[in-house]
Amino acid sequence: MQNILVINSSISGENGNSSKLTHRFLTKLQAQQANLHVVERHLSDMQIGHISAAEMQAWGTEENQRTPGQAALAALSESFIAELQHADTIILGMPMYNFGVPSTFKAWIDRVARAGVTFQYTANGPVGLLKNKKVFVLAARGGIYAGTAKDTQTNYLRDVLGFLGMTDVEFVYAEGLAMGPDSANAAWQGAESEMSKLAS
Ligand SMILES: Cc1cc2nc3c(=O)[nH]c(=O)nc-3n(C[C@H](O)[C@H](O)[C@H](O)COP(=O)(O)O)c2cc1C
Repeated sequence: MQNILVINSSISGENGNSSKLTHRFLTKLQAQQANLHVVERHLSDMQIGHISAAEMQAWGTEENQRTPGQAALAALSESFIAELQHADTIILGMPMYNFGVPSTFKAWIDRVARAGVTFQYTANGPVGLLKNKKVFVLAARGGIYAGTAKDTQTNYLRDVLGFLGMTDVEFVYAEGLAMGPDSANAAWQGAESEMSKLAS
């Protein structure tokens, strides 16, 4: 059985273009392989606050020493990390908002990047501990930026995922979605065809 983790971060939930991409891609994977176990998160449905010092102190406190408040604070990061550790394949529905990743996705990253758990510092520098995972980033954008210096999102994602050990990352872009119907249609067709290739 293959374990798949889907992380959506569109503010439009299921109706977001990036969520539609993750669902199209999942359908293609399911057509290829019957035995998939899928866990899906819509981060916009969760009230994930900014990371805080209190939360990090909770992580740093031994489990049996935590106050009930610290246990509750640590639970968010621990559940996100357990889902990641368990997954063979991770599918990220990735809207571009103001040239970057959604703030909810950044809040998720802040909960899964933990020294000693998902990465560690060594004499040779940092080493990611989330190994042997395949990541697909399905990016939805109003404009067209892939391959240009303005696409800081792609570099950021490669860097932070690689830092955690996830170096096998494929990107699919549906770009120009806000540039008129012809542009949007071409974007959907291009993404469909790219996702079909990657799923097979
Ligand atoms: C708050 C906000 C900021 C946006 N910023 C950008 C941007 O910087 N570049 C871009 O190409 N599109 C931008 N867009 C358009 C979105 O990328 C586009 O609507 C995409 O479909 C979003 O994904 P979603 O539908 O899954 O939420 C923005 C949209 C919103 C709502």
